[in-house]
Amino acid sequence: MRTAPAVAPATDPILTVRDLTTGYFGVPVVRNADMDIPRGAITSVIGPNGAGKSTALKAVVGLLKAWTGEVRMNGADITAMPAHARVGKGLAFVPQGRIVLPEMSVLQNLEIGAFTIRKDRARVKEALDRVMTLFPILRERRAQAAGTMSGGEQQMLAIARALMTSPQLIVLDEPSLGLSPKLVDVVFAKMTELKREGFTVAMVEQKASKALEISDWAYVLHTGRVAFSGAAQSILHDEQVKRLYLGQGPEETADGDSDDDET
Ligand SMILES: Nc1ncnc2c1ncn2[C@@H]1O[C@H](COP(=O)(O)OP(=O)(O)OP(=O)(O)O)[C@@H](O)[C@H]1O
Ligand SMILES: [Mg+2]
Repeated sequence: MRTAPAVAPATDPILTVRDLTTGYFGVPVVRNADMDIPRGAITSVIGPNGAGKSTALKAVVGLLKAWTGEVRMNGADITAMPAHARVGKGLAFVPQGRIVLPEMSVLQNLEIGAFTIRKDRARVKEALDRVMTLFPILRERRAQAAGTMSGGEQQMLAIARALMTSPQLIVLDEPSLGLSPKLVDVVFAKMTELKREGFTVAMVEQKASKALEISDWAYVLHTGRVAFSGAAQSILHDEQVKRLYLGQGPEETADGDSDDDET
């Protein structure tokens, strides 16, 4: 499904981005982007290095100001809302690089994730129980220092921590980064499970083919603009997208292990 000029609308979006322009130090990086995140689905934003994927995501979660346009969640305008207030609206964010507090235990990391509900011990306990049921490995390892967990386990912990605020929408920046191909599959399978549990998932990914395979909906960003959008399967099989963006993506190289994290 080609977009030019209008974006194919997703039905029942939980989040909408309209005419979003933003960037750094006066230089626009994302330009006039329109995106819909369909409720209860998995959406991937793919595109080459420097296309503006992370920048768009930062504007969505409130870490970067929108210069123009608006972001709406469940119909409410959240464009001017700071990131922590968006968490209160049901939007959770898993930053790039599975940042955990390495000296702290798995349990402490999860409790920190519950910052919006921390005064309500019963709710924290309930949230802990829910995420540990979703991620049994974390229950098993709850006393272990987070920094001694494997790369895949740390990514699970980073996702679980975001789920502690009971979000409706979970947004992830490059969840596969630095993970071995096998662990990428494990993490992506978890996304499918989250969807089954009723969460809406949106992620920015360089491992385009793998991301599209588990996604329902997709956007291709190119030099800050939405170049293609549509059902993930049609994007995955679009000849032009294949040639331009899926041909020699990072998933074809060693394993995208470009950062200093262990796997
Ligand atoms: N904090 C920043 N200050 C200035 N420029 C930035 C900053 N962050 C990103 N940029 C620039 O914005 C452009 C888009 O970067 P962005 O990180 O959004 O790309 P991306 O699509 O996420 O790329 P990648 O796939 O490599 O993660 C790049 O040219 C980048 O150099
Ligand atoms: Mg990025």
